[in-house]
Amino acid sequence: MKIVEPLEIEDFVIQAMPDTSPPKWHLAHSTWFFEDFILIKHVAGYDYYLKDARKLFNSYYETLGTPFPRSMRGTIARPTVQTIINYRKHVDKKITSYLSSEQEIDDEILALIKLGIHHEQQHQELLITDIKYNFSVNPLSPVYRESHIQSVAPAPVEWLSFAEEVVTIGTNEEDFSFDNERPAHKQYLYPFSISSRPVTNGEYINFIEDNGYSTAQYWLSDGWEEVKRNNLTAPLYWHHQDGTWFNYTLAGLKEVQEHEPVTHISYYEADAYARWAGYRLPTEQEWEWAFKDEKIEGQFLESLQLQPSIQNGKAVYGTVWEWTRSPYVPYPESARPEGALGEYNVKFMSNQMILRGGSCATPQHHIRPTYRNFFHADKRWQFSGIRLAKDGK
Ligand code: AVJ
Ligand code: FE
Repeated sequence: MKIVEPLEIEDFVIQAMPDTSPPKWHLAHSTWFFEDFILIKHVAGYDYYLKDARKLFNSYYETLGTPFPRSMRGTIARPTVQTIINYRKHVDKKITSYLSSEQEIDDEILALIKLGIHHEQQHQELLITDIKYNFSVNPLSPVYRESHIQSVAPAPVEWLSFAEEVVTIGTNEEDFSFDNERPAHKQYLYPFSISSRPVTNGEYINFIEDNGYSTAQYWLSDGWEEVKRNNLTAPLYWHHQDGTWFNYTLAGLKEVQEHEPVTHISYYEADAYARWAGYRLPTEQEWEWAFKDEKIEGQFLESLQLQPSIQNGKAVYGTVWEWTRSPYVPYPESARPEGALGEYNVKFMSNQMILRGGSCATPQHHIRPTYRNFFHADKRWQFSGIRLAKDGK
């Protein structure tokens, strides 16, 4: 609710492309998750607050009936924003009173409540990135929230080097981890080095000015097709005017700051940049092994500084999601959960790439060293960026 505080009623309803959802849909869907997975199943006498909520707010669970098409979410005027806010208050109250009741709380239900909270956090980030995209198509470049970022020069890149080794990747964490992070398993790594910080806008501009977007040799074939089909010349939200790069931010239209990490780029752009620079993207296992002991500190949603910046010369967690060159596939000996929850993560394990580390729009307590985010290689509306790696020490 704090995220939607700056919004006006009109802002709650729009969907500027099929990948984004209207803010009011996010509020309703994350509420529905608690209602349908917990209250309906486990709390005696509970009935749906809104009849047929599932028809609209089931995102993609085929097990629960036919979901309403995602690309059409922006066409739905009713229930109204006020009804959805009431729905949310109602479900919050029921969950809270369940948790504070005298009766003993079942482990299975506790696990579902934790999942509901982590799900809610994922939608907090999506709310931010979707509001940004929805606002960006407006030529008046509306301000969502003013920001006070001090952009400081990042430290020069340091290469962190690792010897060849059989390492342990993933987790058996029972308190909370997603199914796609489990189980812990062995993985052989060749010697590699990984950069101490993400690539900056200034560095990325060098790639643009060196004809990065018009030199096929830097690109994967699918990426090059994407560049030509969409006439790509820069990251999403950038435009060039009178010799200066501008980008749309949640604080309105701003000059591109060369010290900030580059963001809103696709996997294809990250990969092409790395090739141009003479390096490569890390694998997800290299990323995890390199940073598993780092504190989960950095720029997160809580700061409400919704434009990536590098603090203290170093940025590992938060700031920008970092594309890896690893496909989103199951870990060895992992299992697909039964029923609707098998659809939560595992059914998306084809044609998507892994991103690591979290972003300035991720809630701080959502992230773990083993956390796997995933998007299709052409997607650019998340706060996605680049960390370079190379073979050998
Ligand atoms: C992990 C961010 C790709 O956007 O669908 C939300 C998060 N999962 N509801 C997505 C998610 C279920 C997911 N991503
Ligand atoms: Fe969801």
